[in-house]
Amino acid sequence: MTAVTSIALGRPHMSDTESFDLIVIGSGPGGYVCAIRAAQLGMKVACVEKRETLGGTCLNIGCIPSKALLQSSENFTETKHAWADHGIIVDGVKLDLARMQARKGEVVGANTKGVEFLFKKNKIRWLKGEARIPAPGLVSVADVDYAAKNIVIATGSESMPLPGVEVDEKTIVTSTGALELDRVPGHLVVIGGGVIGLELGSVWRRLGAEVTVVEFLDRIIPGNDGEIAKQFERVLSKQGLKFKLSTKVTAAAKTGAGVTLSLEAVKDGKTSELQADIVLLAIGRRAYTAGLGLAEIGVALDARGRVETDGHFATNVPGIFAIGDVIAGPMLAHKAEDEGVALAERLAGQAGHVNYDVIPGVIYTSPEVASVGQTEEQLKTSGIEYRVGKFPFTANGRARAMGQTDGLVKILADKRTDRLLGAHILGPDAGTLIAELAMAMEFGASSEDVARICHAHPTLNEAVKEAALAVDGRALHI
Ligand code: FAD
Ligand code: NAI
Repeated sequence: MTAVTSIALGRPHMSDTESFDLIVIGSGPGGYVCAIRAAQLGMKVACVEKRETLGGTCLNIGCIPSKALLQSSENFTETKHAWADHGIIVDGVKLDLARMQARKGEVVGANTKGVEFLFKKNKIRWLKGEARIPAPGLVSVADVDYAAKNIVIATGSESMPLPGVEVDEKTIVTSTGALELDRVPGHLVVIGGGVIGLELGSVWRRLGAEVTVVEFLDRIIPGNDGEIAKQFERVLSKQGLKFKLSTKVTAAAKTGAGVTLSLEAVKDGKTSELQADIVLLAIGRRAYTAGLGLAEIGVALDARGRVETDGHFATNVPGIFAIGDVIAGPMLAHKAEDEGVALAERLAGQAGHVNYDVIPGVIYTSPEVASVGQTEEQLKTSGIEYRVGKFPFTANGRARAMGQTDGLVKILADKRTDRLLGAHILGPDAGTLIAELAMAMEFGASSEDVARICHAHPTLNEAVKEAALAVDGRALHI
């Protein structure tokens, strides 16, 4: 059967329409992983992507390019400032930003091509273009209708706008423009002290920019453990980032020289101005559903514009599902991926499932911030009694040898049962260290279980063991 052009022939009769078991709209980590898992399970699958390359926000303009620049800028700043302390003298360190950006492009290209390869390997059809859902069971791409037993909306998210601050992706940028700058700005002002602001603020600070973060709340990284956030702010301040907390941006005016930002103190309404060469707007992201025609077919959205699902990824319209950033929950690539796998398995009659209580989050600054489970603030709010174990990296032999002693491991366990409730790490390679605690939580472990595991010496992981021991007041090295 061949697909037909609906413009030429009117809406095609279903029997003329090419049909799939599953059409996934969007090829980000949610969509492409869902497509692969469904193909593995024997379904005939197509994935619609309107971008030139596969991989979504994450591979093209998110996780991967940002981590490439974080790595490069960390190498630069370490070579310049940290190696002398190890007795390695490197003279005349220079920045070749064009090469750094080109390398980032190569890393992105290798990853997006990798997804294309996986699509071919799993016989997944890439339908190139923007998808619309004209009716349940139908997806229209470039004026051709395709039939699908099931449709998955995995269209992701976009940067949240701020009234009065008009993005041009040149002087007032979102993360997309901030990843593409061809000059190190003299002064970068970041609006929003969240994950994007601090990761990309760190990149440009390391490369030589003055960076000021303007944050509406009285703290950075809201949602993370407060104690960790406070220490993190101190560490970033030592690195030269400046913070203007409890401050809102009310307007941004472009001048010949850059941008003049109008600020207002949240507490007393006092106004001031701040000059910037580049402004990065990073106040959150919102679900992206434009152009799908969801209102016309009656797919319900919640108050924040996210596709409403029933807890098993089903929307209110039979045969239409949604996963990833476009639905509720943390906007993280691995959350989207796990939802993609779980949904494909459910569609194949299996019992796919995501444990939302154990989704780690990592901020890839240096040191990194990693967390899983509940924060102390959340436990207090829900009246759960807990014990805390902490261990600083200053007391960890490996961290000392590395010269990276900022931060700590903090473990929260149920006061009565000792079951792990949350873990928060600020420190070197925290994003890798957190996996041990996520695994322990997934298996319902206690802090005693973690403390009893033999940890190799000397490793950073010993700080995890010590924090687990500290829950019971038994840390050995402090
Ligand atoms: P997306 O990755 O957004 O993919 C959706 C795709 O759908 C897009 O390619 C879009 O073009 C396509 N699409 C939309 N509408 C249509 C349509 N109608 N027809 C056809 N195609 C359509 N998360 C992490 O876990 N770790 C990180 O380190 C990390 N770093 C990030 C850094 C930055 C700068 C940003 C912006 C985000 C970062 N994230 C990170 C978040 C992560 O990128 C998202 O959580 C993830 O991409 C969500 O995946 P998704 O599949 O839901 O959607
Ligand atoms: P965010 O939600 O992490 O942080 C936004 C910050 O902006 C908050 O601190 C908030 O209080 C502040 N804010 C909101 N309105 C403001 C205003 N008007 N003025 C000043 N401050 C204001 O959002 P961000 O950093 O944009 O990231 C978006 C999403 O992308 C996150 O949800 C995150 O999950 C994902 N992401 C994940 C990464 C990772 O996993 N390493 C990296 C980058 C992004």
